[in-house]
Amino acid sequence: MKIALIGANGQLGSDLVKALRPVHDLIPLTHADVEITERASLESMLQLHQPDLVMSMAAFHKVDACEEQIGLAFAVNTYGVRNLALACRVHGAVLLHISSDYVFGGDRTRATPYVETDSPAPINVYGISKLAGEYFIRYCLDRYYILRATGLYGVAGSSGKGGNFVELMLRLAKEGKPIRVVDDQRMTPTYTMDLARQIAALIETERYGLYHATNQGSCTWYEFAAEIFRQSGLAPNLSKAKTGDLGEKATRPAYSVLENKALQNIGLDQMRPWQNALAAFLQERQQVREQKEN
Ligand SMILES: NC(=O)c1ccc[n+]([C@@H]2O[C@H](COP(=O)([O-])OP(=O)(O)OC[C@H]3O[C@@H](n4cnc5c(N)ncnc54)[C@H](OP(=O)(O)O)[C@@H]3O)[C@@H](O)[C@H]2O)c1
Repeated sequence: MKIALIGANGQLGSDLVKALRPVHDLIPLTHADVEITERASLESMLQLHQPDLVMSMAAFHKVDACEEQIGLAFAVNTYGVRNLALACRVHGAVLLHISSDYVFGGDRTRATPYVETDSPAPINVYGISKLAGEYFIRYCLDRYYILRATGLYGVAGSSGKGGNFVELMLRLAKEGKPIRVVDDQRMTPTYTMDLARQIAALIETERYGLYHATNQGSCTWYEFAAEIFRQSGLAPNLSKAKTGDLGEKATRPAYSVLENKALQNIGLDQMRPWQNALAAFLQERQQVREQKEN
């Protein structure tokens, strides 16, 4: 397959390059190569490369910043995604897009993972803009894959957020500062290499539609931090915080655990438990650091 990958140097994008390059004719594109908020930019990219499949990692996903920069959130996450869908329709390309667990509102009493057929009800600007982007794809295209992910981390670090939660925790531990992490938001941390491999398997099927795709199990952000330190052999001064204690601007769901039901239904859910994925990530991270030192 000829695949145009938008956001190829981002966190998930760089792992997709590793997973797809050996098998497909991959065209990795950076933000400098294509701007999804501009129809003309997408049009010329599609005209030039004529891909069978367009994968887009592009998003404005700083959740707190979205509360204040609503115009930008909608320009990228909604209208930009509409541009992608329309361009794919004109050129007959399939679109693969990454959405978010934040399309759900997850009240405090919920304890059952969300499946794809559950009604979304976002409670922050980021979630609303991502959900509207999903709806535009479903409205414009028949052949699409939308994958909802949660709490991504990978060796590249998120370019949009300047790192990821694991890197932040390890840095704070190194600095020896007290660390406070919320213990009332439950989700599933997900390793981008696992998601990239899952995507590589899914695109072989032509089973288009909406998918939840996260590692298995769930934890609070505090529990995630504790496991990062346990697996890294660190014992920093870690304590629990409550939502709102840390001055966040956006409301976040208390529960946004997703079940990979649609992947299970087609016998394709290959995501492992989040603790095992974290161990694999820490190992990969160590190898990358050793390679840089040599
Ligand atoms: N990070 C998470 O925890 C998380 C959780 C759930 C879902 N997601 C979704 O997963 C996807 C990938 O996340 P990620 O962490 O891999 O993000 P990332 O590292 O920030 O990568 C995003 C990539 O898209 C590019 N990009 C941003 N805006 C663009 C635009 N307007 N036009 C073209 N390219 C643009 C970025 O380039 P520049 O950096 O050069 O701008 C970057 O290469 C996003 O859709 C995000 O909403 C992320």
